[in-house]
Amino acid sequence: MKQIDAEILKIEPVAKDIFRLTLKAPDIAEAAAPGQFVMIRPVSGFDPLLPRPFSLHDWSEKQGTIVILFRVVGKGTGILAQSRHGRKLQVVGPLGKGFDITSAESVCLVGGGIGIAPLLGLAKRLPEADAYNEIAVLLGGASGEELAPLAECLDIPGLAVRLATDDGTLGHHGVVTDLMENHMTRDRDWLVLSCGPMPMLKAVAHLCRKNGWPCQVSLESVMACGMGVCLGCAVKSPAGNGHEGYLHVCKDGPVFWESDVAW
Ligand SMILES: Cc1cc2nc3c(=O)[nH]c(=O)nc-3n(C[C@H](O)[C@H](O)[C@H](O)COP(=O)(O)OP(=O)(O)OC[C@H]3O[C@@H](n4cnc5c(N)ncnc54)[C@H](O)[C@@H]3O)c2cc1C
Ligand code: FES
Repeated sequence: MKQIDAEILKIEPVAKDIFRLTLKAPDIAEAAAPGQFVMIRPVSGFDPLLPRPFSLHDWSEKQGTIVILFRVVGKGTGILAQSRHGRKLQVVGPLGKGFDITSAESVCLVGGGIGIAPLLGLAKRLPEADAYNEIAVLLGGASGEELAPLAECLDIPGLAVRLATDDGTLGHHGVVTDLMENHMTRDRDWLVLSCGPMPMLKAVAHLCRKNGWPCQVSLESVMACGMGVCLGCAVKSPAGNGHEGYLHVCKDGPVFWESDVAW
């Protein structure tokens, strides 16, 4: 884990209130793994005081760059969106434990809204595609207007992406778990890797339990330190699984086996 002053190489709008930020951060790019995150301080002064967590959307060891995909929701992300090329940002990372992709016959990546952010870095780094029977990518969002530009961020040759929207303006009219039920045939050993809002993750975890599919979820929580010091990012874990009732999203996760989370 490194703390660096990372220069902004590019900041570009992707959709309404969504931006792609490319930073010069060779040490972080070299150590990064799919599903890990960085803490970014939007300002060098005191307001906001605390850094904000963002998943690694993509990175290049060769170019020494990392890429963040973020939605403006408040003060910190608002300031980030106004930042310009050449400015330096304090960045700490890579942090946390990412996706475990070592054993699977077929994988299904399931994302919701801005939760697709870590799925690009993950999809690009899955072992050779022919190591799997199938790689499925299923994405859900509120509307076509919101989902189309996010789905474009996952535009990798050979990767078939299926979409669902709440209002039916793009892809299947319904939720992403409908796509899972329609697409994930029961004759395969699937591993599900998922990131999105908590209610979606809960539904994904529930469906996976029902069907016996192993499932990892990337959780979000409000974070102050990002490295296990403040204990502010605790989530409940079922009794008896060795975690004394609580897990910390920043150091035990953000990616967990769904069976380790008390939904
Ligand atoms: C491990 C991790 C990875 C993340 N990756 C991404 C990413 O790739 N792209 C992205 O856009 N966002 C991501 N987030 C969420 C992001 O950190 C928050 O949106 C950001 O901290 C908000 O900062 P702000 O100052 O703009 O908002 P604030 O002014 O602090 O708050 C505005 C609103 O956002 C809510 N909020 C604040 N922090 C979080 C949080 N951590 N999770 C959920 N809601 C929050 C607040 O409750 C409030 O309603 C991630 C969060 C975590 C924990
Ligand atoms: S954010 Fe401080 S312990 Fe997790």
